[in-house]
Amino acid sequence: MGTTLIKNGNIVTATDRYTADILCDGGVIKAIGQNLSAPSGAEVVDASGQYVFPGGVDAHTHMELPFMGTVSADDFYTGTAAGVAGGTTSIIDFIIPNRKQSLIDARDFWMKNAEKSVADYAFHMAVTWFDESVERHMHQVFNDNGITSFKTFMAYTGAIGVDDQELIQIMRTARKLGALVTAHCEHGYAVVELQKRLIAEGKKEAKYHAESRPSWIEGEATHRAITLARAQGIPVYIVHLTAKEALDAVVTARKEGLLVWAETCPQYLLLDDSVYEKRDFEGSATDAADYVMSPPIRPKGHQEALWAGLAAGLIHTVATDHCPFTHQQKLAGKDDFTRIPNGAAGVQDRLSLMWTYGVERGRITPEQFVNACSTLPAKVFNLYPKKGAILVGSDADLVVFDATTRGKISAKTHKHNCDRSIFEGFETKGQVTHTLVRGELAYKDGDLRVTRGNGRYLRRDLPKA
Ligand code: URP
Ligand code: ZN
Ligand code: ZN
Repeated sequence: MGTTLIKNGNIVTATDRYTADILCDGGVIKAIGQNLSAPSGAEVVDASGQYVFPGGVDAHTHMELPFMGTVSADDFYTGTAAGVAGGTTSIIDFIIPNRKQSLIDARDFWMKNAEKSVADYAFHMAVTWFDESVERHMHQVFNDNGITSFKTFMAYTGAIGVDDQELIQIMRTARKLGALVTAHCEHGYAVVELQKRLIAEGKKEAKYHAESRPSWIEGEATHRAITLARAQGIPVYIVHLTAKEALDAVVTARKEGLLVWAETCPQYLLLDDSVYEKRDFEGSATDAADYVMSPPIRPKGHQEALWAGLAAGLIHTVATDHCPFTHQQKLAGKDDFTRIPNGAAGVQDRLSLMWTYGVERGRITPEQFVNACSTLPAKVFNLYPKKGAILVGSDADLVVFDATTRGKISAKTHKHNCDRSIFEGFETKGQVTHTLVRGELAYKDGDLRVTRGNGRYLRRDLPKA
């Protein structure tokens, strides 16, 4: 592992802003100070006039996810490389067993796939069904693999979704372990009912996806997830929150003293449901199907509520839910929106979008940006201070960021393995110039220098009481 000295950067952490040099050696931050001298052989990065952030932590990705009859288009190599190009140095992906599949078999499958990662990675374990063996396996992955968060889907009924009884049992097991339960909140049965009705009425195009999953369906499920967690006396983490009603449920719970974490994603902050009117054959670079994800993109009004929630500290983290499908893959649902694979790319774009439309527009401070995109996800999921921090001893995962560079997002230039971008044409002000992964310069001025398999698995054991 080489030695790198970052000179004169404007360091931004979740709490501070100051100018200093950072010396990285042996994969960790060795020193932070003024006028540090470069040891012989060290690579020197002149960060004068640029910001230096802790590497991004994306707590919600789906690399090579088998889903809805296909597999998401970025594998762990291409997906983590795209992340590095955009300043994300750690991801937390999801092991998602099929219903009735053993958690252990699924764990082995995902662990093997992830070996090709170029950035560090951890896993949430999705629990998609429940019996005595599942309970045992939850204990096993918690103890053997340091997987200390369990994901539940209240949507996708009939596939990977769980019902309330299963959710209660999962939460009860998590309580015994001290593990964190995370929830995708949509009322699965209500969605199925609306889907059936729309299809019966001949409303089969992609745009009806949004109508089949209205915001109140998310609001109800968010409230229910919080209620069930409250019954167990445990915290809960709401993934990809998109809607005012869901935010209201979080705010009410917080006012009542409950520990509820909320995550949102750039697409829910920046897009509105007019995207479902897009047609690629009418000259658009994207099609309504490219925006089919769950929950869907919301009508105008929700976005500003989410920004306000983020600014007020009521939404805590920003992840991507990176789950790309190519146009060809999306065509599986051209005659029936319920068959369009749900998901879109974003792992590369998170930092530049959040800086441009959050910090540059004055909606959040630089410190809030670092907190939501790096420090807090690391803290919530037991990766801090190894990740999410600029401290002596922390992993040397660092981003040098030029806040003056203007750019434009396009599928033609992004590193995602996907021919579409839901952020096509979005202008950015602020760009990653260098990314260090454990001290190695893995990205420099457009040049990816990643090594397949360089990513390390991150155990997330809870501190001993
Ligand atoms: O549409 C989405 N979000 N696809 C990925 C799976 C999930 O629900 O997070
Ligand atoms: Zn989800
Ligand atoms: Zn997801």
